[in-house]
Amino acid sequence: MAGVAMNFELSDLQKDIQKLTREFAARELLPNAKRWDEHHEWPEAAVKQLAELSLLGIAVPEKWGGAGLDNVSYAVAMEEISRGCASTGVIMSVNNSLYCDPVMKFGTDAQKEKWLAPFARGEKLGCFGLTEPQAGSDAAAQQTVAVKKGDRYVINGSKNWITNGPKADAIVLFTMTNKEAGHKGITAFVVPTDTKGFRRMPPDKKMGISAAWSCTMYFEDMEVPAENMLGKEGDGFKVAMSTLDGGRIGIASQALGIARAAFEEAVRYTGERKSFGKLIREHQAIQFMLADMATEIDAARLLVHRAAVMKDKGVRHSSESAQAKLYASEMASRVANKALQVFGGMGYSKEMDAERHVRDARITEIYEGTSEIQRIVIAANLLKD
Ligand code: CAA
Repeated sequence: MAGVAMNFELSDLQKDIQKLTREFAARELLPNAKRWDEHHEWPEAAVKQLAELSLLGIAVPEKWGGAGLDNVSYAVAMEEISRGCASTGVIMSVNNSLYCDPVMKFGTDAQKEKWLAPFARGEKLGCFGLTEPQAGSDAAAQQTVAVKKGDRYVINGSKNWITNGPKADAIVLFTMTNKEAGHKGITAFVVPTDTKGFRRMPPDKKMGISAAWSCTMYFEDMEVPAENMLGKEGDGFKVAMSTLDGGRIGIASQALGIARAAFEEAVRYTGERKSFGKLIREHQAIQFMLADMATEIDAARLLVHRAAVMKDKGVRHSSESAQAKLYASEMASRVANKALQVFGGMGYSKEMDAERHVRDARITEIYEGTSEIQRIVIAANLLKD
């Protein structure tokens, strides 16, 4: 038919990635996710396997150690991995989106050789240091200071809630190099975590995603060579914001995976549990819940894939990523709660996974920009001249 331009089909390669990650998640993640959560256990073996499958630098060119795939493949893989284990999903997302992506985009070739390739290959793990005790949503209010001293910068300050922080080999670190300049005074560096003056605290205790460790870290007279600067002095805020445009696609995909896990387990249960003399799936009340859940999951996926396609095309996708993250995260909470309701009393039991999905979904409404921040980004885009 003439003029048909929209394509809702994945490519053959994207379908292969989906199959590979779905099977991997079913085999290696699903059977362990509950235990990792209960014991707050870092999924060491799974992270190693992600590296072997080239899933830690999916959209990084092969030249720099990555898989050289597109961002739709990344979204598809993130959904499947998170469907198996939401904690493993965010570990993967942080290394791909928040560490590798800015080094790839803003790094020099020499920096990419040293700070991208080993991380994209998964030999090393990265993290992203933007959040501070007094700079969460207000990311421009950075208090960590970097002062130039010859060919080095001396960094003092702290970061908190740094996902992958307890295990990371390097951090993309945001600092204030000129307080008077506000957001234009922020500068990014890549800093190895074995630098003198770098100190990290034990993993945080959290409501969900308990196997994905995060921590507070302190920098005390930490000297970093000027050559570790990512982008130019004062470019840091734009590095952070454009990185988060990609990161939000990763978190939206994680939310999708969590919702899928909750939904698919609920569907299965409706074929086992009987009430009032019939399977609960024969009650229209349950059918309506399942119909709403399926519709919301599909709607979220369309938003996520649209944002990923725009990133692949190299066009600004701040608003589309924010819409995908806003809708997918709030959808995941609604779906996980409905799934728990389908399980009734058993849903509230620690024996089942339903309660974990509710806890895991909740963070997707908070990190990489709260739902309120996503609405600010969307509205700013809507109302700009
Ligand atoms: N790409 C490039 N540049 C951007 C941009 C983007 N997406 N967004 C903003 N900018 C630029 C603007 O163009 C502007 O540039 P000029 O000064 O040259 O005009 C500059 O940045 C300032 O923009 P704003 O005035 O819009 O900035 P703001 O101070 O009002 O803040 C905000 C905007 C959207 C609220 C931002 O602070 C924000 O996103 N906050 C949330 C932070 C966040 O998501 N943190 C998550 C931490 S990471 C994490 O959670 C990891 C984890 O655990 C997994």
